[in-house]
Amino acid sequence: MRPIEFTGTSLRLLDQTLLPGEERRLDCTTPEEVADAIRRLAVRGAPAIGIAAACGLALAEPGDFDRAASLLGATRPTAVNLHWAIERMRSARDDGRDLVAEASAIAAEQARCDDELVRHGLPLFGEGERVLTHCNTGPLVTGARGTAGAVIVAGWEAGKVELVWVDETRPLLQGARLTSWELGRAGAPYRLITDSMAASVMARGLVDRVMVGADRIAANGDVANKIGTYGLAVLCAHHGIPFHVVAPLSTVDVATPSGEAIVIEERAPEEVTALGGRRVAPDAADAANYAFDVTPAGLVTSIVTEAGALRPDEVAQAAR
Ligand code: MRU
Repeated sequence: MRPIEFTGTSLRLLDQTLLPGEERRLDCTTPEEVADAIRRLAVRGAPAIGIAAACGLALAEPGDFDRAASLLGATRPTAVNLHWAIERMRSARDDGRDLVAEASAIAAEQARCDDELVRHGLPLFGEGERVLTHCNTGPLVTGARGTAGAVIVAGWEAGKVELVWVDETRPLLQGARLTSWELGRAGAPYRLITDSMAASVMARGLVDRVMVGADRIAANGDVANKIGTYGLAVLCAHHGIPFHVVAPLSTVDVATPSGEAIVIEERAPEEVTALGGRRVAPDAADAANYAFDVTPAGLVTSIVTEAGALRPDEVAQAAR
């Protein structure tokens, strides 16, 4: 699929805004073009945003690093991988290391990390599991296997997962557009539901486990992820269903003590008042558009990282 390709002079992205209808590549050769791609979600998902920003910095003119870092750092506020990758590139610059090599190393390390997430996540599954997921966490979000999506697909390949319930993920439909597309390519069986069907599907006894990704994990284990995730965790607690988060340690922000301090991105109301570019609410309608929510650590069964499947209160130590 190669959703993220970096040549050293160009960042080639599979434009996620056009999926699943069209598979078009976007060539970014400047930090401005990369920032624009991140801002309009042509590349999205926490680790992918970090990788893209690192490549964007490697494309900056000598002497323009700090301006490019500010520009890229201001694109999206919630996913901490963005700032993690920028700070890592800043250290490389300060040490006089090659920035193209550093950005390539960040991407390669993420691919190895994905393998570790699968290694630690796979033993969670029993037999014949029906797993529900939200938003999009497969190859598109890391450029390799993905986070929660990688574990779920590996579970299907190992004969342990028999069905994936895919939340459509309003308002931008990352589940319907992207997760369905990835699972279809992988050949994994899935059924798409509207977000509001999750409670009913659980009440019918049709969900054995929920697995999602994360955009930022606070030091106390609170998890920011796509809007709707918190509701799923509450539903899991009510129905006695395990709720797992799968994320690299670069998503853990040890400087943020709890979820309350996480900045939640608010996007344009038009993303809510329109669907697929067609207005569905009255012209005068206002709308809130919180792109992420925070799931309290107490609702999280485990957080699967490259250091193992951890309790939420163990991730900060692992990240340090
Ligand atoms: O707004 P998006 O599409 O970038 O949000 C993405 C998510 O919320 C994902 O679930 C999250 O980044 C985890 S993917 C590793």
